[in-house]
Amino acid sequence: MHPSYAVINLSNLKYNFLNIRKKIKDTKIMAVVKADAYGHGMIECAALLESLGKNKPEYFSVAFPNEGRQLREAKINQPILIFEPFTKDQVHLLFKYNLIATVFSLDHLRILDWGLKQIGNKNKILPKIKIHIKVDTGMNRLGIGTKEAIDFIYQLKKKIFLIIDGIYTHFACADETDKTFTRLQLKRFEDILKELKKINITYGLAHAANSGAILDVPNSYLDMVRPGISLYGYYPSLETSKSIKLKPVMSLYSKVASAKQIKKGDTVSYGRKYTAKRKTKIVSIPLGYADGIARGLSNKMEVLIKGKKYKQVGIVTMDRVMINVKNDDIKVGDKVIMFGNVKNNYISVWDWCKAIDTIPYEITCNISNRIPRIYKR
Ligand SMILES: Cc1ncc(COP(=O)(O)O)c(C=O)c1O
Repeated sequence: MHPSYAVINLSNLKYNFLNIRKKIKDTKIMAVVKADAYGHGMIECAALLESLGKNKPEYFSVAFPNEGRQLREAKINQPILIFEPFTKDQVHLLFKYNLIATVFSLDHLRILDWGLKQIGNKNKILPKIKIHIKVDTGMNRLGIGTKEAIDFIYQLKKKIFLIIDGIYTHFACADETDKTFTRLQLKRFEDILKELKKINITYGLAHAANSGAILDVPNSYLDMVRPGISLYGYYPSLETSKSIKLKPVMSLYSKVASAKQIKKGDTVSYGRKYTAKRKTKIVSIPLGYADGIARGLSNKMEVLIKGKKYKQVGIVTMDRVMINVKNDDIKVGDKVIMFGNVKNNYISVWDWCKAIDTIPYEITCNISNRIPRIYKR
């Protein structure tokens, strides 16, 4: 057994999901499980959510067709939206695994048309494909511009091989205190929805809200919301409210692998960025930047051993970090909490975020595949 491991608490995932359900009432939920469920294990997280009977998410979403394939191979049955644009060599996956494509350019239509003909030629009947239209209301990443949207959707409606199952947009800063831009994005999106209604174009489900908006912008819920980070137990920033109770799903553990005494003036690790002020004991832990412990955390993080916090010292190396345990009774084999709780004490993913100016998304996504995930119910 690898000495370091991440415990994924599926009861906490269920708790977070059901609390989101409670907050949004009758709105549908698309559970965002891309990027291996932000490092938590896509299959296990999706399977837990799909097992929730009448409460289960109405949709799942991932970034790439290949992630959709993995979900289908794991017998996940709910509709799956693929966020990213697809290429000619990915399009067959959309059909084969019954995935919903995001569409926002005529190129996408051409690729879908081409892909459908390949299948149609074999099967003699032309199948149909579900799509969600992505509208760019200000993120300037993906989506059809608001000015071109109506004309574009009009063209889509003429394509008999398309089923327009939804339309969506994505907020750039719903997790910030100032909601002015989020309100503007929402207005731009709602104006398009109104116009489509006026000209009798049906568009399926309209959706926009990510975790920040779910927490703090209830009028953005529309037909469906798309929680990601909140499922995994984190508020998306330190600026949102805590209007939904969340519990972190991932904790990261390891074991002391070696211990040595060093003298006053001795240095630790590459570049000698830590010098001992007095005689002390240094233990090493088999987790490094190859496992997702950012090198930027060097000399800036703490760990918990036997309920007490100790400072990490010296540069984080590829496979190992060193900890100053002073002259305490810490031995090889003792359990180490990198982040997580023990009675009366905890280290939060946010402690790491504050040290290196990042967000929980990046921390949990970066816990590498080398670290086994242990699933607890
Ligand atoms: C299109 C889209 N919707 C929803 C989400 C979920 O956002 P969050 O994790 O902030 O809830 C993401 C995540 O990046 C996304 O790209």
